[in-house]
Amino acid sequence: MTRKLGLLTGICLLLSMSTLWADGDPERGERAFSKCSACHSIENPRTRMGPHLMGVVGRPAGSVVDYNYSQAMKDAGAGGLVWNDEKLHAFLSSPKKTVPGTSMRFFGLWSDSEIDDLIAYLKTVPLPPQ
Ligand code: HEC
Repeated sequence: MTRKLGLLTGICLLLSMSTLWADGDPERGERAFSKCSACHSIENPRTRMGPHLMGVVGRPAGSVVDYNYSQAMKDAGAGGLVWNDEKLHAFLSSPKKTVPGTSMRFFGLWSDSEIDDLIAYLKTVPLPPQ
């Protein structure tokens, strides 16, 4: 009986861990976005210090036409960098390592789960109407 319970607890733990790793929580991500919103707009396609982040998941790097990117970000985009989960994760952990020379002044002090939450939230925001 106790062994069965132990096994069940083990399975539950594994399951909750795998959801933690696999995908984030968009509601927590929305709250975490307060750390980005000083520089990034998400409700409308307007430029702040950084480019707007509407529809950023799946967007090629450096592709907001009226934003003046660093040469490094333009080159990354021209080289084929697209903001998928993996690349966003890497960029938010360490902007400077992922795009050396980027003008994004952000130190990437994010835990993995916080980054996953944030990406889950960014996915809920569509591209602006063209
Ligand atoms: C201090 C201002 C600042 C903060 C805070 C900041 N960013 Fe940025 N971000 C920028 C700037 C400036 C750029 C443009 C970088 C370049 O041209 O090299 C940028 C670029 C980006 C890009 C690339 C966009 C594109 O169109 O290629 C992403 C993605 C991004 N930021 C996400 C975030 C997220 C998510 C956060 C919050 C965790 C965040 N940033 C916090 C200033 C900031």
